[in-house]
Parts: sequence; C-alpha cells; structure tokens
Amino acid sequence: MSNKNIPDLDWKNLTFSYTKTDYNVRCTYKDGKWGPIEVSDSEFIPIHIAASCLHYGQESFEGLKAFRGKDGKVRIFRMEENAKRFIRSAEGTKMQPMPVELFCDMVRKVVKLNERFIPPYGSGASLYIRPLEIGITPLIGVKPAKEFMVMMLVTPVGPYFKEGFKPTKVCMSREYDRVAPKGTGSIKVGGNYGASLVAGEKAHDLGYSVMLYLDPKEKKYLDECGAANFFGIKGNKYVTPHSESILPSITNMSLRQLAKDLGMEVEQRHIPVEELETFEEASACGTAAVCSPISQIDDLDTGKVYKFTEEAGERTTQLYNKLRAIQYGEEPDTHGWCEIIEFD
Ligand code: PLP
Ligand code: COI
Repeated sequence: MSNKNIPDLDWKNLTFSYTKTDYNVRCTYKDGKWGPIEVSDSEFIPIHIAASCLHYGQESFEGLKAFRGKDGKVRIFRMEENAKRFIRSAEGTKMQPMPVELFCDMVRKVVKLNERFIPPYGSGASLYIRPLEIGITPLIGVKPAKEFMVMMLVTPVGPYFKEGFKPTKVCMSREYDRVAPKGTGSIKVGGNYGASLVAGEKAHDLGYSVMLYLDPKEKKYLDECGAANFFGIKGNKYVTPHSESILPSITNMSLRQLAKDLGMEVEQRHIPVEELETFEEASACGTAAVCSPISQIDDLDTGKVYKFTEEAGERTTQLYNKLRAIQYGEEPDTHGWCEIIEFD
C-alpha cells in the first residue's frame, strides 16, 4: 500500500512540528476485546460528543522515533519500553491497557505504511511516532469508559528546540507545579501537558526555552525540565533526579546506561536546587529533545543564576553522539535497543 514517491520536504531544516503523512492506524477496544488494526488516510476521527476523553481527560500518549540508518535500514528505538509505559498510563487513568505485542505491531505497520516520510540518513531528522489512547464511551457521569481507541500517527521531525544542540537558557519557579505530588506525573497523560502550558508560555515570554519545575511537595528538589527529564554532569558523574512526579524517560534510561559504558558513575536521586552550583554541564533529555544542553538556569523567585558551559559540554556531547550513533546504525547496538524494520 505504501507509496514510494519521495515527498518534497526540506529534510535538513525540519522542525518539531506536524507534517501530514499518508496513513495512520487505529484499533478499537469494544465488547471486552481489541479489534483488528485499521488503516486510515483521514486525519480526522469520528467521535461522540459525550466521549469520556473529551470531558474527563481519559487520554494518554507516547512518543518514539524511527531512524533511517547509515546502512539504509530503518530502526525503531526501544519500542517495547514505550509499550510498557503506555500500559502504565492506561492503568493510571482507568483505560484498557494495550498488550505490548499489539502496540508493537501497530508501530511497525504505521512506519511501513509511511516509509516515504522516513527522513534520509544524514539529514539529522527522524520519523516521530505518536501513539495515543482515548476513552470513547459516551458518558456524563464521572466514570471510566468501556470502549477505547488507540491511534498512531507519524510525522517527520527535526530538533525539538530550534537551537538544536546549541545550549538554551531555562528558568525555574516555585509558582508553578506540573503535577501533584501523588498525581499523574509518572505517566504520560494529556492533562499533565495542559496543566503545564501557563508555566511554559511564561518561560517563553521571558525568553527561556522551558520552565524547570521543582518537586511539587517540598519545592526543594529538581523535577522535570519542561516536558523532558533533567541531568547534570559533575566530574565523572551523571546525576539525574529521582522523583515520583517525574516521567521515567526512556532516553534518560538509555543515557544512564551509555554513561556507565563510558566509565561514568550514575546517580539517580533527589537533587537539591543548590546543588546546581556544582554541575559543570546541564541538559534536558527526551525522545524529542534527545539531549538539549542548558547554558544557564535563572531562578525567577530568588534572582540566583546558575551557569554551565556556553557550548555543549564534553560529556553531554559524548553521550549525545553515542546515542545518535546507535539510533542511526553507525555503531553496534550492543544493548539490543533497536528493531530493524523489514520492508517487503
Ligand atoms: N518527561 C516528560 C514530561 C515527557 O513528556 C517526556 C517525553 O516523552 C520525557 C520526560 C522524556 O521521555 P522519553 O525519553 O521517554 O521520551
Ligand atoms: C520529548 O520527547 O523529549 C518531549 O519533550 C515530549 C513532548 C514532545 C511531549
């Protein structure tokens, strides 16, 4: 079914934004079971006006990427991890969890169907895969849906921040919480992002790339960095926050492993705000963000300024290069993180 004509896109200058592709895939849970994977060329979904996702936020999503490698092969990065997190997000919002194998089949299918949109090797771009689940039962009472729909769209993307791998400035404030202390921070549900928009826009208006949050309970420790995890480098140490209000990032998990492979020490623990002073390098990390280095963090409440390397630091650069090399098939995938997609 996939159309082989290469689309006329400026691959090297893609941003992190939506481009229409050929197909999306959908699967509905009804009468206690998942139906077949359906293929659609429509960008729209027919949905009941009383669907639970629209009123009571029964929605979760994922984000993962496919890369065209040096050898021309297409690799999907750690999709089982996204499948497992998708299950946790469904459980956390009383939706039907989708089995890992079905999730992976949908990912493989939507990537194959949109082969011509997978950016060429060397462009620095990739194909972003966005799965989402919604409750579709018409409801007025506040209770979980019985029917659910999982959809996956794909879109070719470039860097999340327009600066790419050039460090950006970040701000911090105790005036905003992304999530509640025992809330939904560790799962990937739409409501978390809706709740972060005011803080995010405030950061942008003040000239910063994102808002760095402190832990929502005590406001003492570093939490999420916008919609990404945070890590700092101190000598030979990779230090990243541990908190129940943070989304366990698959990129961060991979970077921790790569840091160990490089002989670094890895610490995942509470990071008191003041400790920022001791980091030589700081960065945000995520599927979209990859590693996005931070040059400076301004504490908007106290006026304190934390400075890091002006250009991407040595360790951050090493880690970034290592991760990219695995994703683009330039170095052996020793941890078995990539699945190579077979095209017919
Ligand atoms: N934190 C938040 C809030 C996110 O939305 C994301 C993106 O998915 C991440 C962290 C990074 O997670 P991952 O590396 O799995 O994409
Ligand atoms: C990331 O994947 O790095 C993100 O920041 C996720 C965002 C696009 C929702």
